[in-house]
Amino acid sequence: MDSIVVTGNGPLSGQIPIAGAKNACLTLMPATLLSEEPLTLTNAPRLSDIRTMTDLLGSLGAEVSTLHNGKVLAMSSHHINNHMAHYDIVRKMRASILVLGPMLAREGHAVVSLPGGCAIGARPVDLHLRALESMGAELELKDGYVHASTPSGRLTGGTVEFPFASVGATENALMAATLAKGTTVLKGAAREPEIVDLARCLRKMGARIEGDGTETITIEGVDRLNGATHPVVTDRIELGTYMLAPAICGGEVELLGGRKDLLSAFCDKLDEAGVEIDQTEQGLRVKRRADHIRAVNVTTEPFPGFPTDLQAQMMALLCTADGVSVLEETIFENRFMHAPELMRMGATIDVHGGTATVTGVRTLKGAPVMATDLRASVSLILAGLAAEGETTVSRVYHLDRGYEHVVRKLEGVGARIERVKAQ
Ligand code: UD1
Repeated sequence: MDSIVVTGNGPLSGQIPIAGAKNACLTLMPATLLSEEPLTLTNAPRLSDIRTMTDLLGSLGAEVSTLHNGKVLAMSSHHINNHMAHYDIVRKMRASILVLGPMLAREGHAVVSLPGGCAIGARPVDLHLRALESMGAELELKDGYVHASTPSGRLTGGTVEFPFASVGATENALMAATLAKGTTVLKGAAREPEIVDLARCLRKMGARIEGDGTETITIEGVDRLNGATHPVVTDRIELGTYMLAPAICGGEVELLGGRKDLLSAFCDKLDEAGVEIDQTEQGLRVKRRADHIRAVNVTTEPFPGFPTDLQAQMMALLCTADGVSVLEETIFENRFMHAPELMRMGATIDVHGGTATVTGVRTLKGAPVMATDLRASVSLILAGLAAEGETTVSRVYHLDRGYEHVVRKLEGVGARIERVKAQ
């Protein structure tokens, strides 16, 4: 297995281009199953998770062509000739469950394996299933698979009440409702920018959707959807990750394509910690105001709150802040697996349940560390940029799921980082 070696070497300077959002692309791709006509996505990120979704859609009969060096995905689902999403593909990525709603809505039946994904908590799919049931789906769980069908061949509009916000369940329900008979109201829906991006794309395909970006989304079902071309929204998690690079080791970096409105709670916390963020014509320019970062308290929340997907990276920054920071993780119950690895680099962190207390130390020291999930692995790279000596991050296949060209992008701003191929 490949590893990444980072050597801390001081301030960074230059520009980093931010890719299209992995999480938006992973829900836009299954939307192709809703229409017989082609759906083309531009600004797609080049990631292994996107290839997994390509394989999954291909296994169902969709054609996915990768153009312009992977930045354009031309998809066509003229025929869905297999209605079973097999465990062998689904287990690699939790977002695979997002084929269930569209396939059921268009075809009236679907069989999808229960998913796997990052090991950051139990992560059931009950909310996805309950939402589809509220639209008249009949479901049976058998041998690790969800068997879904609609008695009349078509879902019917209904009211879906989510007890708490779920990004994936909102996306699945939203896609399914576009082809349901009648009107569907999603109450307690998630409000993430990736959901707004999905709704924009679905509207281009002819869907009738109002209220995306709020807690109540209303969808009036239509008989069929047409094709469309849609650019994937900027990856706010990649953006936030690279904003932390100059915050953690000094210098000034411009994040091309960056927008503050995608990350307002995160930007507020960085400001409180002593990081200056300016909107430029091309994106966001980021630098520290003083030599030291101040400790801040962080609580992860659904959008527009502080994203759980930036908690590990923020912890890396706070390891060398002045004072004591408290990080509370409220979305996933097991998302501090980066803490023991950061401690191997000299950080002082005390984890109790969903709370991590970080006492800033003067410097981190390079060490061999192991990535345990996607965001954890990039937090170790950030820590390595600030550490004295060499940090070797192993199991970087996690990184390949969500960060394109991480070595090239960080090298471009002066970091000493290299990928070492497995022997
Ligand atoms: C998505 C993102 C992921 C991010 C997460 C929260 C994608 C591909 N992934 O994941 O990067 O960390 O949002 O912002 O977009 N839950 C249930 N039952 C369900 C569904 C979820 O109990 O049926 C729970 C989860 O275990 C978790 C919480 O709800 O505790 C939020 O999860 P959810 O918003 O659904 O996350 P994902 O869509 O899986």
